[in-house]
Amino acid sequence: MKLSVIGTGYVGLVSGVCLAHVGHDVVCVDIDEAKVARINRGDCPIHEDGLAELMEGVLGNRFRATTDLAEAVASTELTLVAVGTPFGEERIDLGQIEAAAAAVGAELAKKNSYHVVAVKSTVVPGTTEDVVLPILEKESGKTAGPDFGVGMNPEFLREGVAVADFLNPDRIVIGGIDERTLDMMNGLYSLFPNTDVMRTTPRTAEMIKYTANSLLATLISFSNEIANMSAVVGVDSTDVMRGVHLDHRFSPILADGTRVRPASLTYLEAGCGFGGSCFPKDVKALAAYARSVGVPAPILEGALQINEDQPAKLVEPVVGALAPGSKVTVLGAAFKPDTDDVRESPTLRIVPALLAAGLKVTLHDPIALENAAAELGADVIYEDDIDLALLGADAVVLVTKWGTYQDLPQKLAGVDPQPLVADGRRMFGADQFARYVGIGYPQSAAPA
Ligand SMILES: NC(=O)c1ccc[n+]([C@@H]2O[C@H](COP(=O)([O-])OP(=O)(O)OC[C@H]3O[C@@H](n4cnc5c(N)ncnc54)[C@H](O)[C@@H]3O)[C@@H](O)[C@H]2O)c1
Repeated sequence: MKLSVIGTGYVGLVSGVCLAHVGHDVVCVDIDEAKVARINRGDCPIHEDGLAELMEGVLGNRFRATTDLAEAVASTELTLVAVGTPFGEERIDLGQIEAAAAAVGAELAKKNSYHVVAVKSTVVPGTTEDVVLPILEKESGKTAGPDFGVGMNPEFLREGVAVADFLNPDRIVIGGIDERTLDMMNGLYSLFPNTDVMRTTPRTAEMIKYTANSLLATLISFSNEIANMSAVVGVDSTDVMRGVHLDHRFSPILADGTRVRPASLTYLEAGCGFGGSCFPKDVKALAAYARSVGVPAPILEGALQINEDQPAKLVEPVVGALAPGSKVTVLGAAFKPDTDDVRESPTLRIVPALLAAGLKVTLHDPIALENAAAELGADVIYEDDIDLALLGADAVVLVTKWGTYQDLPQKLAGVDPQPLVADGRRMFGADQFARYVGIGYPQSAAPA
C-alpha cells in the first residue's frame, strides 16, 4: 500500500519506517525542513533502539521524507496524521491537527481517486468526526464517505521500545466512519499476522487510547499514594506491594506452580512520578474533556495531583540532610530508561527544586543530557561520565531506572564520606548503602 505519514516525531517516524520495513511504500511529511533533510541523508533524528538500522534498510527504496505535503498525499492512497497534540492552557491543543487536516483536505480537492485520512495522534473523543472530518470536507469540497474515508488509529507504542512495540503489536485498533475506510485501514496492518485487530468507531478508538493511558497513570499514582502512606506508617511499600502482587489475579499461578509476573505490575511500584510526552498530557486532556462535558473525574484529577506532588517526596529528605552549597548528583534525565526524551520528566522538577534550595547539581544521563540542558539551562553541571559525576557527591538522587546505574553500590563502596542515596525508583535495597532514603521506604528507618 502507498501511504503518507504527516509528522515525523516519535510516532510518525517509527510508524513510517516500520510500515516501510514490512513492505509498504511510505512517504513521511514534516514542516521541519532540518528534520526532513536529516532523515533523507540517513541521520535518524530520534534515539529509538533499532530505528536507525531499519531506516537505513528502507531509505531510498520504500521510504523517503519530504516537506511537500501536497505531493505526498497525491502520490498515496492513505494518510496517517501523526502530528503533536500538546495540552494547552485548559484543553488539548488541536492546532497541528487542524493545520494538517486543512492541508490534506486542499490536496483531496484535486485527487480523483479514493483516499483515506486516519488520525494516529492521540485526540479526545469526537475530534476525528467533529473537527478533522468537517475540515477535510470544507477544504476538499467533497463528502466524507462516498468521496474519501476518515478514520482513527491510535498508537500504543512505548518510547524506548517503540520499534519492537510497533513490529509486535499486542492490538491494533482501527476506527472508521464506514466499512470501506475500515477495510483500507485493515489493509495497512494485514502484514501483521496473528494480531488482534479491533474494528470500531473513531470515537471509541479515541476513547480506548485515553482510557489505556489513564489506567496506567492511575495505577502509578495509586502506588505512590500507598508508598507515601507506608513511609509514614513505618512500613516498606516494596514489601506491601510484593504481598499485593502475590494475589493470583495479579500474578497468575501456572499448572506447574510457577508465577507469571505481568508487565502491568511495573505500574504498581513506588516512584517519584510519571512523565513523558503521553501520560501527563493525556490524563490532563481526558480530565479536561470530562469537565467540558459535565462529567466529574475525581480519580483522574487525583492521579494528576499525586503525580504533581511526588517529585517533592524525593527532594525533601535530600534538602533536609544537606547544607547549602553541597553537591548533589542526579542520575537520569530521561523520563524513563532507553529513551532520550525528557518531556515532563520528574528530573525537570527535581533539579530546579534542588537548585532553589541552594544545592549544586550535577546531572548524569547516558543519552539525554543534550535534551535536558535545553530545558534546565546553565545552572546545572552536565556530566556524561558517571564516575566524574559521582566524584565528591554529598548526595546521589536516582530518578531514571537506567540499567547502567545497577552498579551504583559498587561505585560508591569505599567512598568516604558516604553520600546520601535518595532512590526515586526503589531500584536498590536500603542495605546496599550506608545512607539511604527512598520513596515508600520507612522514614523511621532512614539514617539521619
Ligand atoms: N511519543 C509517544 O510515545 C506517543 C505514543 C502514542 C501516541 N502518541 C501521540 O502521537 C502524536 C505525536 O506524538 P509525537 O511524540 O510523535 O510528537 P512529536 O512532537 O515528537 O512530533 C510531531 C511532529 O509533527 C510535525 N508537525 C507538526 N505540524 C505539522 C504539519 N502541519 N505538517 C507536517 N508535520 C507537522 C512536527 O514538526 C513534529 O516533527 C501525539 O498525539 C501523541 O500524543 C505519542
